[in-house]
Amino acid sequence: MDYALLNAQMEALAREEGWYVALFANASALLWESLPDINWAGFYVVRGQGLALGPFQGKIACIHIPREKGVCGAALRENKTQLVPDVHAFPGHIACDSASRSEIVIPLRDRHGRAAAVLDIDSPLLNRFTGQDRAGLEAFAHVLERAMKGLTPMEKTIYLAGGCFWGCQKYFDLMDGVLETEVGYANGPVPNPTYEQVKHEHTGHAETVRVVYDPARLPLRELLERYFQVIDPTAVNHQGEDYGIQYRTGIYFTDPADAATVTAALNDLARRFDRPLAVENLPLENFYPAEEYHQKYLEKHPDGYCHIHF
Ligand code: SME
Repeated sequence: MDYALLNAQMEALAREEGWYVALFANASALLWESLPDINWAGFYVVRGQGLALGPFQGKIACIHIPREKGVCGAALRENKTQLVPDVHAFPGHIACDSASRSEIVIPLRDRHGRAAAVLDIDSPLLNRFTGQDRAGLEAFAHVLERAMKGLTPMEKTIYLAGGCFWGCQKYFDLMDGVLETEVGYANGPVPNPTYEQVKHEHTGHAETVRVVYDPARLPLRELLERYFQVIDPTAVNHQGEDYGIQYRTGIYFTDPADAATVTAALNDLARRFDRPLAVENLPLENFYPAEEYHQKYLEKHPDGYCHIHF
């Protein structure tokens, strides 16, 4: 199979239109016309926790695939290609077409590296897909990843200070709907401070996490409620074992439309306490990313200090 030619044809088609429905429709038609010995070629798109049927060629297929099921579910969970030489030997395989004997499923990733869809190709032959097919089709998937539009989540950003940023970053990273995080120093007077300056010279920055999230999966209100679960909102310049102005709590927004949501969430929270809240509710003035060794600190040092109990 000449994958260089196939992928050049796909590049040409993708140049004309990146909307994922048009892209996946022509991609499945191109695969259907080009690959010998296949009985299904198409896409499933990530929806909620599982997958929903997208454009394809072949027999009518199942519409929903839960993430725990099937070869497609495995590709989504593991975020990696599944090459199945014998579908009957694959636990949980879903037989949409009883003629299928072997199958390859490749995840298509968004710019954060998360699976946004899968490409699924079935064959009536046992062991149809070789290492060469796998490499060629993964390159085909990369062409689609670069072009696909309208499939990747809508992104919003909020800056949350909740004490030591090591634990806060891990806490947000574990949330479904959080796309990206970065730790840094926010709302202080000195540009580009170092950790040492913030800690020993009391510059006035707050240790803060920049949280990029998908509001369709994680609305701001819910994200804030979960943030409230790991802070003491009444503590002034102090969280856990840490004391100092850099450990103050704060919600710093960049979209003025978020101000009302933040205020409503804090008003609600205040009713649960008989002392005043110390959580700042302010527009973001500045944010300086922290040094590389602070990024994903607890991934690098799983036994490192953490004021949050996971
Ligand atoms: N066999 C797939 C289900 C989709 S059909 O092949 C079109 C699976 O086990 O995930």
